[in-house]
Amino acid sequence: MAEPAEVRLELEDIQSGVLRPRPTPYASTYIGLRIDDAKAGRELIGRVSKVVTSAANPSSPLADTWVSVALTYPGLKALGVPPSSLDSFAWEFRQGMAARAKELGDTGESGPENWEAPLGATDLHVVLVAVSPDEKRLEEVLARARMAYAGMRGIKAILRQDCHASPTEKEPFGFRDGISHPAIEGSGIPGTNPKERPFKAGEFVIGYIDEMGTVQKTEPALLGRNGTYVVFRKLHQRVAEFRRYLKANSTNADDEELLAAKMMGRWRSGAPLALCPLHENPELGADSHRNNDFLYESDDAAGLHTPGGSHIRRTNPRDASIAGVARIHRMIRRGTAYGSMLPEGTLEDDGVDRGMMFDFVGAHPGRQFEFVQTQWVNDGVFFGAGKDKDPVIGSNESNSSYTVPRKPVRRRLQGLPRFVITRGGEYCFMPGLKALQ
Ligand code: HEM
Repeated sequence: MAEPAEVRLELEDIQSGVLRPRPTPYASTYIGLRIDDAKAGRELIGRVSKVVTSAANPSSPLADTWVSVALTYPGLKALGVPPSSLDSFAWEFRQGMAARAKELGDTGESGPENWEAPLGATDLHVVLVAVSPDEKRLEEVLARARMAYAGMRGIKAILRQDCHASPTEKEPFGFRDGISHPAIEGSGIPGTNPKERPFKAGEFVIGYIDEMGTVQKTEPALLGRNGTYVVFRKLHQRVAEFRRYLKANSTNADDEELLAAKMMGRWRSGAPLALCPLHENPELGADSHRNNDFLYESDDAAGLHTPGGSHIRRTNPRDASIAGVARIHRMIRRGTAYGSMLPEGTLEDDGVDRGMMFDFVGAHPGRQFEFVQTQWVNDGVFFGAGKDKDPVIGSNESNSSYTVPRKPVRRRLQGLPRFVITRGGEYCFMPGLKALQ
């Protein structure tokens, strides 16, 4: 039987930020708006639709600069969307991130009671994100974004967050980020792992067939079609503490780097342990044709190269034998750093707030983001490591541990602290352009 023709994605109706990897380097600003008046809110959305860029025409000169818009559930309500329609959105989105805190591991210092206002509060309604390859062009894109709400009564800007990515893509702990991206059928944008089959578009965009053979729909269908969900989290990183932990648990500088790589699954350059288990390889790390070209099972079922509990293997086990099907938990990430970097070699905290604005994009926030965060990041049962959490981003407590498989005996690290603190976040819906209009 002939293979079914590839699905055609309506790129001109999908927001640019959904499918297109952001530029490197990169500068962006998040603007959070509150709608105090439904009529003004609807006018705002109409104006926003004129400044938002679609995923079509990747060769246009504007392709690297764009404005995205997303709405929270309270935002849809503030616009007057009727209950029958509201009920057709994903359950997790309707709950909001603060209500899901316990499940997500956002407790204690990371709990919503300690989040930065207005994150997690019901008055954050609309999030605009201006994206550009540099600060200079960011000003132009920001001006475009501001045009959508400037001078409007009933609309108030209540949040601003600046983010950036350096040319080396190093996040605050010092690892190259932005490497592994899935390919999506019909998007024309390639993935980064040649060994990973492209995903059905419905995994990432509402209104198309997904990996389970189902199509997500909202009421009315036009409202959701070509839209998706976005999860953003402001994650503070305790960089000095991370460095001190590596030092305290290593015998020399090389050993420190090996331990860091065993926790992440990649060396700081981005070179994967799967392809160079014994030493750093900056050339491989920077080579986008090779640095994500691997699977785990045939060479490393026991995790002697890439530990099963390392950040990249547990958040995307690829072909590793685990309970369940890894493909239905895959996500698009668009994370970027905020705050200045801690100077190299410094082991004391300088009091600067720095970390990652983590961005998830996907049509199934429950089985994608929430599943990975709750079952894979904050639990180790799925790959046989009991209660061990992600050593880099898990909600670890002072008695947490981490296992590095090794011969003849495994290495068991104890007293792993929590290196990443949640400062807040939200579940949003990113509509298609027609829905905005
Ligand atoms: C401050 C927090 C975080 C830091 C510093 C961080 C850092 C990194 C780095 C350096 C990589 C490797 C580069 C790449 O593959 O693109 C990576 C990959 C990844 N991260 Fe994170 N991350 C953070 C939070 C999260 C969260 C909250 C999730 C999901 C719940 C997540 C899911 C993933 C996934 C799915 C990958 C790709 C794995 C692969 O395909 O090999 N990360 N992260």
